Amino acid sequence: SAARDYQAEDATLSQAGVFTNHTGYTGTGFVDYTNVAGSYVEWTVNAASAGPATLTFRYANGTTADRPMDIAVNGTVVAARTSFAATTNWDTWATVSVPVTLAAGTNRIRATATAATGGPNVDKLTV
Ligand code: GCU
Ligand code: CA
Repeated sequence: SAARDYQAEDATLSQAGVFTNHTGYTGTGFVDYTNVAGSYVEWTVNAASAGPATLTFRYANGTTADRPMDIAVNGTVVAARTSFAATTNWDTWATVSVPVTLAAGTNRIRATATAATGGPNVDKLTV
């Protein structure tokens, strides 16, 4: 079925907040992770049927270092320490795609920072 956007600012946040202090985001803002391991964004996405899907995260990382995150589906990490590489500055956005298997109905997609620097800034998830 057609891809759908899930804004980060509409998701459940832990040790993270909604900000608008950089350009180029979609929706009404982006999520700035607190610079701490364990901070996360969790989206609830609906799948019409069980099966393969691609999670595409739009993010910015204005540092020179990776900001890896664990990607979990329904409580299980399916892509550990996924790389969110530098994007030149905080106004420059890139995407990272992760192939997953979704359950029919409601799925919880969580992106958790694994480094002490926290996650990148995250604009949205497309499924
Ligand atoms: C800067 C930037 C934030 C970013 C933060 C970080 O403060 O303005 O948007 O989240 O760096 O290093 O995580
Ligand atoms: Ca941050």
